[in-house]
Amino acid sequence: MAKASKKAPRGRAAPKRAKVAAGELVTLLDFVRYAVSRFVEAKLAFAHGTTDPLAEAAFLVCEALHLHPDQFEFFANASITAAESKVILDLINKRVTTRKPAAYLVNKIYMRGLPFYVDERVIVPRSFIGELLESHFGGDGEVGSLVDDPSAVGRVLDLCTGSGCLAILAAHHFPNAVIDAVDISKGALEVAARNVREHGLDDRITLHRGDLFAPLGDGSYDLIISNPPYVDADGMAALPPECRAEPKLAFDGGPDGLDVVRRILRDAPKHLAPEGGLLCEIGRGRELLDEAFPELPLLWLDTEESEGEVFWIAAADLG
Ligand SMILES: C[S@@+](CC[C@H](N)C(=O)[O-])C[C@H]1O[C@@H](n2cnc3c(N)ncnc32)[C@H](O)[C@@H]1O
Repeated sequence: MAKASKKAPRGRAAPKRAKVAAGELVTLLDFVRYAVSRFVEAKLAFAHGTTDPLAEAAFLVCEALHLHPDQFEFFANASITAAESKVILDLINKRVTTRKPAAYLVNKIYMRGLPFYVDERVIVPRSFIGELLESHFGGDGEVGSLVDDPSAVGRVLDLCTGSGCLAILAAHHFPNAVIDAVDISKGALEVAARNVREHGLDDRITLHRGDLFAPLGDGSYDLIISNPPYVDADGMAALPPECRAEPKLAFDGGPDGLDVVRRILRDAPKHLAPEGGLLCEIGRGRELLDEAFPELPLLWLDTEESEGEVFWIAAADLG
């Protein structure tokens, strides 16, 4: 196994190097069990597509073997070759010693079952908006759906697009929509362009570089979605090492976390069609936002793993 190149910071013990003798670990399951033990021992943080050490270990082992994570159970008891074992152990070691999110180590993440290319130019996709598009934008008379008919959604704007993941999920969900996607980061847009191309959506998604609505002129949209930076100053100071490997620009929402969200709320009315609406993720700032905009009937939406971290507001209610 390759030696770790970086010395441990002064005052912190270097993670112990893995010592695995040939033949000690045999099956996929053995390697996943070993990875879980190392991840827990090293007190890693799990917040990047997987939320526990087992899911993260299974993801890394499957990626090393070019398997979809859904194939893990089928192959759990299959044997690993010596060459594959080296690749897997190297990845496990890198995850522990660098504390980088697993997605950066393999340049891939799945969101709502779709694969996306990622590297350090973008935050690892994990927005709750992906799930909400499926749960709240189904149409067809579905109770609580926020659109009557997904196929009638013509124009969508994804503000702060990062890797382009939400623009791409929106393109799948709204089959007739054309989508503008904006980011201020040149590097993020390079990653987004790669993902848009790999998903065959060049003809439906246009990427723009700039500050929020600035590059869009007078464009008007049926739906605006946004997962902007929303971490407050205390949150920024407490980010785990995994998140410090991601772009600061993707997190930093100013002192109370709501700098960018306020600007989106202020300017969205100029860019929404009369029947349109805004879907925006804001993390833990719900109380602050409700206090700052008491006149706005923000509808707070829950997902499997979040409560009240995303709001919806119809254009008519934005004034
Ligand atoms: C939390 S990330 C979201 C990325 C992606 N939408 C996702 O859900 O994974 C926020 C993104 O906003 C971008 N950003 C930050 N400030 C911006 C601004 N003023 N205008 C446009 N994009 C901005 C960052 O570069 C980053 O890619």
